[in-house]
Amino acid sequence: MAGQFITFEGGEGAGKSTQIRRLAERLSNLGRDVVVTREPGGTPAGEAVRRLLVSGDVSRWSPLAEALLNYAAREQHLREVIRPALARGNVVLCDRFMDSTRAYQGYAGGCAQDFIDTLEASVVGDTLPGLTLIFDLDPALGLARAKARAEAGAEDRYERKGLAFHQGIREGFRDIARRNPGRCRLIDAGQTVDRVAEDVWAAVSGVL
Ligand code: TMP
Repeated sequence: MAGQFITFEGGEGAGKSTQIRRLAERLSNLGRDVVVTREPGGTPAGEAVRRLLVSGDVSRWSPLAEALLNYAAREQHLREVIRPALARGNVVLCDRFMDSTRAYQGYAGGCAQDFIDTLEASVVGDTLPGLTLIFDLDPALGLARAKARAEAGAEDRYERKGLAFHQGIREGFRDIARRNPGRCRLIDAGQTVDRVAEDVWAAVSGVL
């Protein structure tokens, strides 16, 4: 059986990780082999890149440098984890992928969209997600949730970028959803965890 590549996107504190855990359990119970992974990260070197990106001074990297670092980790992640898992017929659930670069570094950070197009075409190529769930939430709410869960010194470099930046990310993700209606589904992440899980399942069972 061919593998399935499903990505989870959205702003901070939107509840992606909880939903990925629930979905992975449900799919495993149905006998599917599931690989749960994340970006930036997913490989030992990718996790090292993640630590450079998510901690430290807010102005530590330019949006352009962030796009390149994320794509360096993504290239390795695709080669070492995602493509082999898809070739084995696994379901790959990835917490963030290429749309995060477009929303965070492109729409909110100001990197040129055609530069991101080029990175996407050269690195992702035809390994496009079959389904992308975009968790949509008021960033004021999401940031409050993320702050409540974060410990001091945690992965909060992006959370410290301010509300206007995060509003730009939300608009970016909404635009991505509008432009890619075949691949993307917008999920209302302001509902209860159970209702969000139902929406996630409705979208996923439609493609599996
Ligand atoms: P997470 O905390 O949701 O796992 O993601 C880590 C942070 O990295 C989050 O603030 C979003 C950001 N990010 C980017 O800015 N660009 C990217 O390409 C990816 C994958 C994540």
